[in-house]
Amino acid sequence: MVRAGEQVYANVVASQIALHANYGGVVPELASREHLRNIVAVVRQAVRESGFSLRDLDAVAVTEGPGLAGALLVGITYAKALAYGLGVPLIGVNHLEGHIHAVLMEARGRAETPMELPLLALVVSGGHTHLYLAKQERPGEAGTWRYQNVGRTVDDAAGEAYDKVAKLLGLGYPGGPWMDALAAKGNPRAVPFQFGQIKPRAHRPGVSLPNKKAGAERSGPIFDFSFSGIKTAVLRYVETHAMKAAIERRRAALAELPEAKASDAVALCDAETLDLIASFQYAVVGNLERQTFAAAEAFGARGIVVSGGVAANAELRRRFLAEGARRGLPVAFPSLALSTDNAAMIAAAAWPKFVAGEFAGDGLVATPQLRLG
Ligand code: KG4
Ligand code: ZN
Repeated sequence: MVRAGEQVYANVVASQIALHANYGGVVPELASREHLRNIVAVVRQAVRESGFSLRDLDAVAVTEGPGLAGALLVGITYAKALAYGLGVPLIGVNHLEGHIHAVLMEARGRAETPMELPLLALVVSGGHTHLYLAKQERPGEAGTWRYQNVGRTVDDAAGEAYDKVAKLLGLGYPGGPWMDALAAKGNPRAVPFQFGQIKPRAHRPGVSLPNKKAGAERSGPIFDFSFSGIKTAVLRYVETHAMKAAIERRRAALAELPEAKASDAVALCDAETLDLIASFQYAVVGNLERQTFAAAEAFGARGIVVSGGVAANAELRRRFLAEGARRGLPVAFPSLALSTDNAAMIAAAAWPKFVAGEFAGDGLVATPQLRLG
């Protein structure tokens, strides 16, 4: 529950990480079943913690997409019923817009000088590595936000690469936080991973896109990413350096520790493994940094906003802040609590739509491939 896109009264998260960890990745059927099981209890808890009642709500906001169809459907069906029952408007929000507005909400709350527009937003998570140029049609509360996609991954997302490489090295799930902690113990210059230039792909004619917003053509320079190459490079390194047996020993040792944390893994990693992890992170963060700052410069952005699960990465935060300071460009991150998926960010993104009267009708549907801009 959030007031005026600004003050968080309650932000209850029912994490499914422990459930999916057993499978090494998200299992869609289990995800929607858990949503169904949790949604009523989570909303009740949020209302209780806020000190208000459901009757005090002015609107209900819900994620329209992108995401897993089953999970989206549970949220939308519940939100529609709740809004209808309370007689308040329903607002559909793009999940990615939520990540961006979580940062803006917190930056306003810190009473910093407001981030000036346009902003360059990097959304970097397990499903996305996307760059958007974000601006308002009219500055002020009622100004509708507009987003222009100026870069995206052509294959794996950065968080996905982290998770796959962690799995390959016998570490826990999700792999990002493990890699982040272990990278600090290795030499980032040990293995020189390279990123090639990504050529923009022409829009493929004849490919029908699943929603009306998906077909937006991109104009101007494009700053795309690719992370599947570095994943393959790590695999090749592991093979050519005969690291497989040590990896299997580590995997088995961690499986014996159900509550294992990254700190437990340090003793299970030799120097070569720690160097490999540090070098992987150095290359990935460097690539994110180069593309993001180049895009900011090309589009005349006045600030950078980084969000999504990978925005929790310590090296990413350090390097983005240092480069921002060097260029005199403000860089904002969400607090750790708001960097992974949460409901407060959806309410924050809904506020400008509420002010502008942009409500969803009965026709609001789950849109798994929904794009922003
Ligand atoms: O935004 P998010 O919670 O969920 C979605 O993917 O939508 O992001 C989760 C991703 C996972 O891939 C996870 O490994 C990654 O964020 N992640 C990190 C860190 N913390 C989470 N990656 C690198 N360093 C971290 N500290
Ligand atoms: Zn997310």
